[in-house]
Amino acid sequence: MHAVITGASRGIGRELAERLREQGHEVRGTARGHSAGHRLDVTDPGQQARFAAEIGERPVDLLVCNAGVYLDKGMALEEYTAEIWGQSLGANVTGVFLTVQALLPKLRLAQEPKIAIISSQMASHHRAPGGSYAYRASKAAALNIGRNLATDLKPEGIAVGIYHPGWVRTDMGGEEGDISVEESAAGLLAEFEKLSVETTGCFNTWDGRPHQY
Ligand SMILES: NC(=O)c1ccc[n+]([C@@H]2O[C@H](COP(=O)([O-])OP(=O)(O)OC[C@H]3O[C@@H](n4cnc5c(N)ncnc54)[C@H](OP(=O)(O)O)[C@@H]3O)[C@@H](O)[C@H]2O)c1
Repeated sequence: MHAVITGASRGIGRELAERLREQGHEVRGTARGHSAGHRLDVTDPGQQARFAAEIGERPVDLLVCNAGVYLDKGMALEEYTAEIWGQSLGANVTGVFLTVQALLPKLRLAQEPKIAIISSQMASHHRAPGGSYAYRASKAAALNIGRNLATDLKPEGIAVGIYHPGWVRTDMGGEEGDISVEESAAGLLAEFEKLSVETTGCFNTWDGRPHQY
């Protein structure tokens, strides 16, 4: 299998990449710098085009849209700026869409292509404890994009799953997180394996439970 994972320089993305490589798969990991192997700032259409050109005619079997930022953690309502909104939506929403758009031709070359979008439980409209407005809105939008891509791409046999990776101990999740990157990645990889055109559009947790919208 040939997989592309955005945001693979650290955290959940790096663990997913390492595990897939250990299983013998070819993985292209990306980040804003070169630390994950390939430079791809997901918000930059020029870098998206260059990255896609680098892949050439090689089919992409699995695309994991994992790159993300959480810039408004603990931010008071009064502190929000247009820049915080722009950067949050840029990476977590536009970045997901641009990545799928750029790599769709490579996914179309694969036998059973899959797209996994790493959203969050914070995408849920039911669960609304307040705060983190930009992050919550961005993850809700990523979920929405995934659900609609699932509809559009089903006739082509491309499956799309949306996932909550757990509250994970990473730079983003912090030390108090519920689970380790190892637990999260193992669960997510099992979920990606189960994903098919029959289950396309699912919003599941890392441990296989359907998440409330
Ligand atoms: N940790 C949690 O508890 C938790 C919970 C729910 C959802 N999630 C989601 O899971 C995903 C991974 O989270 P994590 O905890 O592993 O985060 P992390 O440790 O902060 O890592 C984030 C990754 O995203 C990359 N990234 C950020 N902005 C980017 C951009 N514009 N272009 C390309 N890469 C970019 C970073 O790479 P560079 O900085 O090197 O560019 C890094 O590799 C995110 O989408 C996050 O929202 C996490």
